[in-house]
Amino acid sequence: MSFPRDRLRRLRGSETLRRMVAETRLSRDDLLLPLFVVEGAGVREPIASMPGVFRFSVDRVVEEARRVWDLGVPGIMLFGIPDVKDARGSGADHADGVVQRAIAAIKAQVSGLCVITDVCLCEYTDHGHCGLVEGERVLNDPSVERLALTALSHARAGADMVAPSDMMDGRVAAIRAVLDEHAFEEIPILSYAAKYSSAFYGPFRDAAESTPQFGDRRGYQMDPANRREAMRELRSDFEEGADILMVKPALSYLDIIAEARQSFDVPIAAYHVSGEYSMIKAAAANGWIDGERAMLEAMLSIKRAGADIILTYAAADLAAHLDA
Ligand code: PBG
Repeated sequence: MSFPRDRLRRLRGSETLRRMVAETRLSRDDLLLPLFVVEGAGVREPIASMPGVFRFSVDRVVEEARRVWDLGVPGIMLFGIPDVKDARGSGADHADGVVQRAIAAIKAQVSGLCVITDVCLCEYTDHGHCGLVEGERVLNDPSVERLALTALSHARAGADMVAPSDMMDGRVAAIRAVLDEHAFEEIPILSYAAKYSSAFYGPFRDAAESTPQFGDRRGYQMDPANRREAMRELRSDFEEGADILMVKPALSYLDIIAEARQSFDVPIAAYHVSGEYSMIKAAAANGWIDGERAMLEAMLSIKRAGADIILTYAAADLAAHLDA
């Protein structure tokens, strides 16, 4: 009878030992919370497809921002959902648009919190695409121009960082140039660099009312089959001046996160998207899994893969259970 010399179980024998040898630790500092802002006052409207997530009016989003800051979450990602949409997404860069007012109100009332804005046109276009369209074609360069002005309007409203999520070519360089021209050279760009065309965005599109009215986003978002192409996307955004590179979604793309971490010396962010969140919530609501443990395990996996920053709808809930 032979017995093993190496017994990996030795270091798993107690909670204390496990604490001592844990290789990855999740902290509140790793998390960012996405928030949806709508017109009106006193609004805190639950989103059916995303249990525990709400659409807030400007007054109420300030309260929510304060709550998450007090829980130790360092930042938020704001999404505006306007009442009026049109073909050009005119609302996206209005100085007094819903997201611009939210930025200003939060910056005035919650000092310290990092306010990041999602820069895209899909919430503002009546056709639901992330850029301008001609027939059924989504145009690149005219969209980039609109996106750069949108980012500028966010910076003028007081945003601490802008995050383009449209996947048009050249938008990072264009946004950097417009920001620099207007003396916003200190505002970092968090680029949704490798953003895949994913079924996991389903619940978000309900939340933001941004489902494309024709076609889909495969003409600009990435094919889930591709890894080398993701590296090109990351490299081009890096070279255009992105300060933080994001991979999205997260769990189905841990290989991309890991390679991004090894290839670029900038912080790597990962977006645990609406579908990833809602699947855990739905299974937990049915009593099929322990939702809290599953959510923590998902976050830990994303961090272990190499993400420095995780965007998650569970940020506030998790922060309450985590150390700094
Ligand atoms: C906007 C945008 C989307 C998400 C973030 N920014 C939707 C999309 O591309 O369809 C998805 C976020 C989520 O699913 O949680 N372009």
